[in-house]
Amino acid sequence: MISAAHTLPSPRLAVLGAGRVGATLARVAAEAGLEVSIAASGDPAAIALIAQVLAPGAEPRWAADAVRDADVVVLAIPLHRFPAFDPGLVAGKIVVDAMNYWPPIDGVQEMFDDDRYGSSEIVARRLAGSTVVKAFNHIGYHELESERLPPGAPDRRSLGVAGDDPMAVASVSAIVERIGYDVVAMDSLRAGRAFEPGGPVFGAALSRDEFALAVRQAAAA
Ligand SMILES: NC(=O)c1ccc[n+]([C@@H]2O[C@H](COP(=O)([O-])OP(=O)(O)OC[C@H]3O[C@@H](n4cnc5c(N)ncnc54)[C@H](OP(=O)(O)O)[C@@H]3O)[C@@H](O)[C@H]2O)c1
Repeated sequence: MISAAHTLPSPRLAVLGAGRVGATLARVAAEAGLEVSIAASGDPAAIALIAQVLAPGAEPRWAADAVRDADVVVLAIPLHRFPAFDPGLVAGKIVVDAMNYWPPIDGVQEMFDDDRYGSSEIVARRLAGSTVVKAFNHIGYHELESERLPPGAPDRRSLGVAGDDPMAVASVSAIVERIGYDVVAMDSLRAGRAFEPGGPVFGAALSRDEFALAVRQAAAA
């Protein structure tokens, strides 16, 4: 069981990727009261309108500026762009990997085409100077907004948070809770393979108990 005792009181979030997931995540995080910046691959002027309309409250910035001032960075970019992503940009940061390797949809990618490892394990190996946590990958971007509920609501949906570093998992779990979801925390990136496309919780709206049972059963199978 991972304690949330060491979570940052009000973490600053940098969302890299201003597409479907990035913009939605920036919006719901800003609505939850977090300080949020958002960046795409280039000039923030190019995403100013997106930010204004789709993520009000999130500040469009150059990626390097957004990351420098952030406690937690969310990577919400297409995985085929990841091999060209500079690991130095996020060194020393908690990095939330919201990306998916989904060959039937996105095609085969050599870096990720190794079923001995989950995609976040491969991301973490490349981002060796960062602390990688897997979260937000298994919920559709449209649901991320519509399915939020306050703590204690009977139908509150659960999201998984997985990572090797307990404090980072606790910090990201606190953000997920604050946005509007219960959390099932897993103590390794390896265990986070259960959140991947084809896994038992991918795209599924589950309570905390249902989610925990599904990942336990998958691990035992
Ligand atoms: N769609 C979903 O419901 C969903 C749900 C969960 C997880 N995911 C995962 O989330 C990731 C993003 O999916 P999406 O549907 O949001 O993609 P998308 O709509 O195509 O948006 C991709 C965004 O990433 C930006 N980007 C690319 N390279 C970048 C870089 N090096 N630094 C900063 N920004 C960069 C792009 O900006 P430029 O235009 O400047 O390149 C664009 O704003 C994927 O890995 C996907 O598997 C998707």
